[in-house]
Amino acid sequence: MSEAPVVRFEVEDGIGVITVDNPPVNALGPGVREGIMESVDKGNADPGVKAMVLIGAGRSFIAGADIRQFGKPRPAPTRVSHTVLDESAKPIVAAIHGFALGGGLEHALSSHYRLAVPGAKVGLPEVLIGVLPGGGGTQRLPRLIGPKAAMEMIVSGRHMPAAEAKTLGIVDEIVDEKDLRGAAIRYAKSIAAKRPLPRVRDRTDRLAEAKADPGMFEAMRKSIARRARNQKAPYHCIACVEAAVTLPFEEGLQTERRLFAELENSDEAKALRYAFFAEREVAKIPDAPKDLKPPQVKTAAVVGAGTMGGGIAMSFADAGMPVKLLDASKEVLERGLQRIHDNYAVSVKRGSLSQEEMDKRLALITPVETYEEIGDSDAVIEAVFEQMPVKQEVFRKLDEVMKPEALLLTNTSALDIDQIAAVTKRPEMVAGTHYFVPANVMKLFEVVNASKTAPTTLAAAMKLGRDIGKISGYAGNCDGFLANRSRAPFGVEQNLMIEEGALPEQVDKVMVEFGYPVGPFAVSDMSGLDISYDTRKRRAAADPNFRKLPIPDRLVEAGRKGLKTGAGWYRYEPGNRTPIPDPEVARLIQEVAAEQGIKQRTFSDEEVLHRLLFASINESCKILEEGKAIRASDVDVMWLHGFGFPRWRGGLMYWGDTIGAREIYNQVAAWHQQYGRHWKPSALLREVAERDGKLSEIKSKAFGG
Ligand code: 3HC
Repeated sequence: MSEAPVVRFEVEDGIGVITVDNPPVNALGPGVREGIMESVDKGNADPGVKAMVLIGAGRSFIAGADIRQFGKPRPAPTRVSHTVLDESAKPIVAAIHGFALGGGLEHALSSHYRLAVPGAKVGLPEVLIGVLPGGGGTQRLPRLIGPKAAMEMIVSGRHMPAAEAKTLGIVDEIVDEKDLRGAAIRYAKSIAAKRPLPRVRDRTDRLAEAKADPGMFEAMRKSIARRARNQKAPYHCIACVEAAVTLPFEEGLQTERRLFAELENSDEAKALRYAFFAEREVAKIPDAPKDLKPPQVKTAAVVGAGTMGGGIAMSFADAGMPVKLLDASKEVLERGLQRIHDNYAVSVKRGSLSQEEMDKRLALITPVETYEEIGDSDAVIEAVFEQMPVKQEVFRKLDEVMKPEALLLTNTSALDIDQIAAVTKRPEMVAGTHYFVPANVMKLFEVVNASKTAPTTLAAAMKLGRDIGKISGYAGNCDGFLANRSRAPFGVEQNLMIEEGALPEQVDKVMVEFGYPVGPFAVSDMSGLDISYDTRKRRAAADPNFRKLPIPDRLVEAGRKGLKTGAGWYRYEPGNRTPIPDPEVARLIQEVAAEQGIKQRTFSDEEVLHRLLFASINESCKILEEGKAIRASDVDVMWLHGFGFPRWRGGLMYWGDTIGAREIYNQVAAWHQQYGRHWKPSALLREVAERDGKLSEIKSKAFGG
């Protein structure tokens, strides 16, 4: 059976059109580079061809190298497609729509001219998967737009809109969205006879700016020191741009190749590649019917104008979706709107949002005071107080007013969604959509499947999350769902280790060195100790077996509620957010330990790390075992986007594989002996350990794994 070629060459009106057709995103997979080179050869050999156009079929130009090929042995190429493009005797015009990323943009930079439609995006995002632009991007881009702008683009990996690319000089012209091919052919004809051909590699004018500002590379290194801690790729990117300035083009390319090879199989790159594919996988629900057509949500409503409800309303407005914000109390509504206004105003002040965009977003949020006014919304998200009777009352009203096809969603983080759905006559339309705080910023959107949720409702809720720019992940209905349930044992161990003699500053130091931006005790001070205190009191009242945490309780009762009261796990100087270890806390810890008869001891940093993360790995295995999660990599995506787990470590379960399931199981079993019930090993963890399997590859049996 013959397969369709991934690159086509046709001649139209004297112009050779090279079309890359490798769905879904025209990655430079097997045969694509070769196809491009053969086409350029054909064009140059054909006297009827005056110039050429390089264009992508389908939804994109070229999204970059095929990431699945990384880390696998590849034969050394005899010819390099970038060189073939820029050494072509006839001019080549790159015609960009969709995405020109990584190797895709590098092919465009090796072409002689670049056109783009207004909706196109260009970028060199290699750093995000732990490598660097390895097809000449670090040498050509600085020559085209100057080293400073190039470095910013390469080190951030951001996708740049066509208009900005035009201003910077990456794109020569913006052309009509509807007729890119026609416009590119016309453009190619207009420049066909022009000589010499403009080759980016030959330019030196823009490199002069680095000579005038020799400190720019050191300044860039300093500016990323915090965010790029423990990572190599961003620094290698800077080194390559520096080489573009200090070395001749060919030598710069050699530096780029050498540093790329150093990164390709690094632990950092492997973990980041894993995270990339895990983020694509998380969107998929294996047993969803193939012909499912989830309804498109075009309008939304949020019930409850508190901090959470306001953040949720912003998440819709930020995505350009009209949203009604309902609160029965005029005062709460006004306060909520003011908070939204103030949040946007901060972004405008910081320069990350224009005043015009702020006004546009505010105009999308309509405050309403009665349920009748939201009845025609496609989806409603309830974000009222976390108490079952309160939520049930809201859902009774929603059942009365909402149109039959509306999605009824609850933002609960802890309550049983079946009990909420049960008060409606349409439990199949009810699902959980759990946002993380702040709702307009955090990317994770945990979609909870209750026992009567219809597959279309589930699929529509997953899609809704993606439509507003979030990462939707599936969870079954259980206490804490997937994200918080898997994180809870970490929180428990953090407190138990303190009782046993570790100090908050040691635990925080270990986790910051591991890669978290802030340690868990400092985070707790920032969010306020009183919130979890209230939750614990409520849960302890309902459940006699609920584990008490006397130390944080005692802190709150002493008025130490965290940063806002100037003291919590740490103390704070007025007007300064830096946590300062407090001997008073150490004293209180010893006092509580003595009262409880707990003997204090010292902890190694490794024990601190393992206690926190093994506890959560064990719980994640239990969640998978119970069929409340689809796959282990979903846990990882949720930890990356919900809890600030360092991305270059891949995620909780992926990191667990660097230790090994067997070692983790043995340790969990030993702690079970030592500490009792809450360390009971998961049967699934044992099974994976016994067969020396990989934690990150676990698929739940409930989903065919
Ligand atoms: N290689 C292999 N597969 C890729 C890919 C790539 N570069 N880019 C996307 N895909 C796959 C995805 O895995 C997904 O596969 P699936 O359907 O089996 O899950 C499919 O294409 C569609 O991708 P998305 O779901 O992400 O589609 P979106 O429309 O949401 O996003 C995109 C499109 C913005 C292009 C996004 O896919 C993306 O960011 N891709 C990666 C781009 C990138 O990093 N390019 C640089 C690669 S490294 C490089 O070029 C090195 C060079 O310098 C030598």
